[in-house]
This record gives sequence, C-alpha cells and structure tokens, in this order.
Amino acid sequence: MAAFGTVFMPEMAITKFENGEWTSTKNVPSDSIPMHPGAHVLHYSSTCFEGLKAFRHKDGGIYLFRMDQNVKRFQQSSELLKLPAFDAKQVEEMIVNIVRQYADEVPAPPGSMYVRPTHIGTEASIGKAAAPSSSSLLYVLLSPVGDYFAGGAKPLRVLLDETGMRCAPHMGMIKSGGNYASALGPILSAKDDVQADQILFCPNGDVQETGAANFILIDGNEVITKGLDTSFLHGVTRDSILTIASDMGMTVSERDITVDELLERAAKPNVEAALSGTAAVLTPVGTFIYNNKEYTVGSGEAGATTTKLRHALNDIQWGNAEDKHGWLVQV
Ligand code: COI
Repeated sequence: MAAFGTVFMPEMAITKFENGEWTSTKNVPSDSIPMHPGAHVLHYSSTCFEGLKAFRHKDGGIYLFRMDQNVKRFQQSSELLKLPAFDAKQVEEMIVNIVRQYADEVPAPPGSMYVRPTHIGTEASIGKAAAPSSSSLLYVLLSPVGDYFAGGAKPLRVLLDETGMRCAPHMGMIKSGGNYASALGPILSAKDDVQADQILFCPNGDVQETGAANFILIDGNEVITKGLDTSFLHGVTRDSILTIASDMGMTVSERDITVDELLERAAKPNVEAALSGTAAVLTPVGTFIYNNKEYTVGSGEAGATTTKLRHALNDIQWGNAEDKHGWLVQV
C-alpha cells in the first residue's frame, strides 16, 4: 500500500471567507490551490488542520468517527490562530458530503478514509505580521489510508527528550503546521542518532506528547496520561481510549507524570506504554531511550491491555461493537 497520506481523492470540498462572509461550499480538483505568494499563511503560518477517519462497515455503510469533536477542535485552533470563525454545521456538512461522494473509495478495515480539513489565511499582505488574515480558505481533503507507522502495531522505540520542546507551551493544543515543523529537527536527529521512531517531549521532566501522537502509560488496571492543559494536543483518540478504559473498569488518572516516574514504572513487568492518535490509533512503545541508555517497557512487546484497548476502539469504529457513546455518524 502507498505511504500514509500520499494518495488523494481527485476532488476536495472548499469554502472561502471573503468580504466578511463564507461562500457556499463547492468541489474543486484537489491537486492545487491558487494562492498569492504573499498569502498570510505562507509567511505568518496562519494555518490549522484536523485529522479524522471514515470507516466502512460490513453492511457497506460508511461512518465518520467523532466528527463533532474534531470540528470543535478545528474551531478552537482557528480561534487561537485568529483565523475567521466558521459555523460547525457548515463544515460538518462539507465533510459528510465529500465523504459520501467518495464512499466507494473508502477502504475496508483495517484501512479507512482519512479526512483532513484545513484552514489557511489567504490575504496577500506581508505587512500583517502582527495582524490576522482578513480572508481564508477552508478545504476538506480525503486520503484512503492504512497504517501510519510502517510496522503497524509493532512496538516503537521512543526517545525521551527533557531539553527540547515540541512547540511553544501555549500553542500545544492547536493542531497547527508550525508545531509539527518545530518538532521535525529533533525527530530527525533522534532517528539518525539512536534509531528512535519518535520523540516523547518531556520538557524539564514533564512527560507531554510525541511529535505525532499523545502518550499513555498503563500500569496494571490504571491508565495514566497527562491532564489537559495548553501544552499538548487534546486528542480525540486519547479521549476515546480513556473512555473505553473506564468502561472496562480501569482507573483513569489524568495527571502530570515525570520522566523519573515513567522509567521507574516501565521497569515493572505489567507496565505498558502506547501512543494514541487518529493516525497512530494505539501503537505500543517497546523501548524508551534516555541519556544514551535503553529501557525496555514491560515485556518490550505489544502489551495485552494496549492490544485490548486498540481492538475495542477498532471494534466500535468498524461496526463490530455497540456504539454506546454515539461516536459514529453515517454519511
Ligand atoms: C493525526 O493523527 O490525525 C495527525 O494529524 C497526526 C499526523 C502525524 C498524521
């Protein structure tokens, strides 16, 4: 299968904010967008995006997973970046309609249709370094995908980085390209230097998240993950996994974790660690790398609880289990 996110449906849905209002939605070819080289987004990074998935059920029905939560976060990111406000209903309709038009192209599980709503500031004004873009473009791209990590659910090697930061602390909850760009240098160095798959950013010992996903620790019957603050992305998958864990009778602890505590717990045989995200789903961590030493997490293999939680999430998404929280919307 092609690498994650490299194949696109030929059309995307767009709407523009111009002269103080949103245009009605239309479909355009997805291979290019006309843009002035002085567009706000190209200079001052007024851009945010979302990632959600549509799944094919056995009866042929196509379902979006927790679209309302992604659209809500998209609104929040747009607001924090001072991009024009939009109506959640209009964007939900854009998503549903474009997915419906490409329903035949939604892969069967374990594949899915990845939906990438994106919002960019388009005003041609390089003078607006300290002012918002008065115009914007909001589009919804579709990409049929399989696994994000090349090894599927194979345990990852994760470098614990106490000195770097994924992004500015007040920007972490915004799903914006700049945050991913700022994490890129450290990630590439970690790949080269210690063959790490990901970096877990832990500024001053505070365990936050990786470049591409949230982080959770599982110790016996307890799931531990950092409580929501502005420093990291408020993952919809994170929230879904915590809800499923709680439904299974596990204790969910949302609180700060230090690197010291993480390494101490990781040495225990029944401890597991995993990365959660729309793309990552729930991918186990087999090894931490810290100060040039390697620490095996629990058994070093995909743990039983991580696998159980991943399957429980997939079962809801794929229509094999009851959707008791009403997370699915049929297109
Ligand atoms: C997602 O999980 O949806 C993301 O946006 C992460 C990205 C690295 C694909």
